[in-house]
Amino acid sequence: MAMNMQVTPFNIPNLQKRQPQNLNFPNKHSSKPICCSLSSSDMVVSQKLAQQFNPNIPIEKAVTPPSSWYIDPSFFHLELDRVFYRGWQAVGSMEQIKNPGEFFTGRLGDVEFVVCRDDSGNVRAFYNVCRHHASILASGSGQKSCFVCPYHGWTYGLNGNLLKATRISGMRDFNVNDFGLIPIKVATWGPFVLLNFGKEKEEVDNHNVAEEWLGSCTELLSTNGVDSSLSYVCRREYTIECNWKVFCDNYLDGGYHVPYAHKDLASGLNLDSYSTKLFERVSIQSCEGGSEKSKENNDRLGRKAIYAFIYPNFMINRFFLFYLET
Ligand code: FES
Repeated sequence: MAMNMQVTPFNIPNLQKRQPQNLNFPNKHSSKPICCSLSSSDMVVSQKLAQQFNPNIPIEKAVTPPSSWYIDPSFFHLELDRVFYRGWQAVGSMEQIKNPGEFFTGRLGDVEFVVCRDDSGNVRAFYNVCRHHASILASGSGQKSCFVCPYHGWTYGLNGNLLKATRISGMRDFNVNDFGLIPIKVATWGPFVLLNFGKEKEEVDNHNVAEEWLGSCTELLSTNGVDSSLSYVCRREYTIECNWKVFCDNYLDGGYHVPYAHKDLASGLNLDSYSTKLFERVSIQSCEGGSEKSKENNDRLGRKAIYAFIYPNFMINRFFLFYLET
């Protein structure tokens, strides 16, 4: 399960309780992405913390990174800025937006987003923020013909165009074309929808996306059953009270914790077969199933499982032949 980072979203105090006042439009030219930026004081503190780590120490001599990397808020802001807002991040399944009008929403760090399939069948993604007074526009998932802001009713098409701005007659120099939703770069690979907050201007080519996201591991994942033939069943959310890297550390410990923390699972695995392969930004752990009897008792194990970790925090568990968890 990819980590759901529970940090404060946009600061919109008591938005729904405020009474409508004078329309106060944001600068029509300010169509910059709304990702939080790193303050200069955060930058100084976090860079000092990062310098405590020596990447040249060989793995045999490596120790756990400093505790400040897990608890200092400025370091977390640095990670959002440098890690999560600059690469491809898997945010959902293609099956959630199979038909025109289907959409889902989510949050990555501080950024609220909405992904949809428009009337022409194109996959689109936008910052999920109204261009008027920054209300969150859509919530949950479902199917719609347009997005209507719950605050003052501005209405946007599935392609992001502003279709209707309520009660603005008399406003001078207001052009609806200047106030469409702000797009986010979106791409797809296999069963996944990916977003990239760092590619404002570049055109997206899905072939390059596979290379950038998975590198030389692309084919290995496809041939091991991580492909678009899989069906989307459900999404479950868990809030884990820890820094996101703690969860990743647990996933990447090569089965070290399994015999102690997951005794039942361990009894169904052949832990001697556990292996880890490293690629540019992907780690693949695999393990064969144990005895025939244990396999019968746990159909999630089957004859082999692969656990793929894609930097920075996306995890794919493929249990032959039936299950895929992310
Ligand atoms: S915040 Fe006013 S219409 Fe959306």
